[in-house]
Amino acid sequence: MRFASRMERISLSGIRRVFEAAGPDAVNLGLGEPDFDTPAEVKRAARDAADEGFTSYTENRGIEELRHLVADRYNGLYGTSYGEDNVLITSGASEALQLAIQALVDPGKSVVFTDPGFVSYANLAALSGGVPRALSTSQGAGFVPDPSVYAELLTGDEAVLVLNSPCNPTGSVYPEKVVRALVEVSVDSGVPVLSDEVYDEFVYDGVHVTPATFDDEVLVANSFSKSFAMTGWRLGYLLGPPDAIEQCLRIHQYVQACAPSVSQAGGVAALREAEGFPREMWRRFRDRRDLLIDGLRENGLSCVEPRGAFYAFPDVSGYGGGDRVADALAGEGVLTVPGSAFGSHEGNLRLSYAASTGDLEAALGVMERVIPDLGREV
Ligand SMILES: Cc1ncc(COP(=O)(O)O)c(C=O)c1O
Repeated sequence: MRFASRMERISLSGIRRVFEAAGPDAVNLGLGEPDFDTPAEVKRAARDAADEGFTSYTENRGIEELRHLVADRYNGLYGTSYGEDNVLITSGASEALQLAIQALVDPGKSVVFTDPGFVSYANLAALSGGVPRALSTSQGAGFVPDPSVYAELLTGDEAVLVLNSPCNPTGSVYPEKVVRALVEVSVDSGVPVLSDEVYDEFVYDGVHVTPATFDDEVLVANSFSKSFAMTGWRLGYLLGPPDAIEQCLRIHQYVQACAPSVSQAGGVAALREAEGFPREMWRRFRDRRDLLIDGLRENGLSCVEPRGAFYAFPDVSGYGGGDRVADALAGEGVLTVPGSAFGSHEGNLRLSYAASTGDLEAALGVMERVIPDLGREV
């Protein structure tokens, strides 16, 4: 079969490759999802919805009650003033990101995002005919982007700046003054900002600052996947000015029609009845983060302290780099993702601490055994 030329620009996610290589007994620190079960309230609401026949298409933009609750959540947490018209319910943040990028990016225009950064951005840019452009961040600066570096890379060809704080894969959380300055540079240059905030519930030091606080035109992608351990429910949302929501809705109606009805019923229950759930996960993740970071340091690995999300991104360049270390660990039954999956930081390795303390301790034990030998061979 002959496929469209755009397919040559789409790569298989480095994270998927790790999943597919996983044996049943592997200790999996490659996963990007909470190892918790969805709250019981959410399951019950979805079951009831299905039993009561709430199984048809919903409004394309999502049911009103859920849009209302999502707007309220942001307004309550971040002082925004969203209403139902500012919300589009999507199939996960993945779809929200795709809609926004499709709606904003003309062929040949640049999609700017941080390096290292989440695997989707470059591929969604390519799907829209756009050109991925890296905004470099460094270990020395805690993987926080520098607004003046952003200002310098602008050429007038940019269609969107994608921000992701807390960041996958580094765990960095951008301070308020950085977020504000990035938004200011973008607004002054007429470059829309798309903020991926799927880890906003998981900030351990400091607070989450949404760029939407500084400009009404910012688009925000978020989701129930991480906050409520609902990755398989495929429920997320896009927030933004009504005209942008309308444009994205035009794409959404053809690619998705609506987010799954029973998932939307579950989402209502999450926001009405399970508000405390993300904080419980937060506590557990924070303890696991401390365990993992202490263990890495005891093993002689340097690692920027992750302040959010549930990833650590240690530097293993002295041991042959991320691919070599990930392969060696996989050979011993510990799955991780090499930094190369997220851009140019090939010397790093992404470890997810959305895993039990038993698994983290086992993984640290394997690292202690395997990694020093790799160093000697370099
Ligand atoms: C930064 C980031 N954005 C978006 C997503 C996609 O989330 P969803 O399950 O809501 O599509 C992920 C999932 O790993 C992610 O890490």
